[in-house]
Amino acid sequence: MKEVYPDIFLIKERRAFNSIRPEVNVFLIAGKDGLIFDAGFGTRKTVKFLSGEIKKIEKRYRDAGKEFSIKGVMPSHSHGDHFNGIKLLRKYLGLKIIVTDRIAQNISHRKIYRKNYNVSEKYRYIKRGFFGDILHGLMEPLFYFFYQRIFGFSFINDPDEIIKENSEILINDEKWRIISAPGHSFDHVHLYNEEKGLLFAGDNVLRTITPWLGPPDSDLKQYLNTLEQILKLPRLNMIFAGHGSPIGNPVNRIKNLIEYRKERINFILEIVNNNSEKGITINQILNKIYSNEAGFKKRLSFGWVAVTLKYLEDNNSIIKVEEKRKIKLFPVP
Ligand SMILES: [Fe+2]
Repeated sequence: MKEVYPDIFLIKERRAFNSIRPEVNVFLIAGKDGLIFDAGFGTRKTVKFLSGEIKKIEKRYRDAGKEFSIKGVMPSHSHGDHFNGIKLLRKYLGLKIIVTDRIAQNISHRKIYRKNYNVSEKYRYIKRGFFGDILHGLMEPLFYFFYQRIFGFSFINDPDEIIKENSEILINDEKWRIISAPGHSFDHVHLYNEEKGLLFAGDNVLRTITPWLGPPDSDLKQYLNTLEQILKLPRLNMIFAGHGSPIGNPVNRIKNLIEYRKERINFILEIVNNNSEKGITINQILNKIYSNEAGFKKRLSFGWVAVTLKYLEDNNSIIKVEEKRKIKLFPVP
């Protein structure tokens, strides 16, 4: 645990399972009426660790004669490494669960969550075929079981407070704005303090790595729009990200991310343009980009390529043509 800004503490939840589970940040805005932003994983071990760290901070405040209380815990979005800790945090520390209406709906029940994560029609670039569909149907519960062990899924249908996106919340008598920020996920929100120029940006902006984008709930157009909106904030001194260390030069970092995504868009468009006669499938695109990489890397990269193709489709730069066994992409003539 580290105080990364006066009264803002970063608690890192460690990697596990040979790095399959990422390291994730949980923040405490500490004071007489504080807030925990993001809740990490939902396994007993990680939430016990988190609660222990929060109790240490509380002791530090009390020893210094400072008031200490936490009004609640609020996740930035409903990915497994960001919301699952809420239920056990409520149990162990008696905290209120505060969620936006979209996140509340998505995490209300296992069935709703799984359904939302299976709707990939928007990004259909592969035809699985009859046997492929059967295999997918058999594998899906196994994947779910695997994710359950890693993330400790913890659905909740009785949050204590549902707040609106683009509304304000008082934390330690200071105004913070809950800003709708779709892109990395459809229900993502940021938390912003204009006076200090501080922004909690979850997984939309990371310091050293490019935020993950992929089906079913990322959207590249919304993502770029969210980054542009951050640049328009009246004051921006520091970004606290969902993974990695805080970003002290946020404007540069966001400009770099926008630039990088635009380069990638042009790169994919060029590949499709260069294959205008016979068209090209998403797997062929992945083979061109990652010819020397392992299959796992290609699988992971499917996400950003799929959202980029969708972006180009929506922009009328490419079209999708369904053949009997394949889905091919062509440039718009
Ligand atoms: Fe995420």
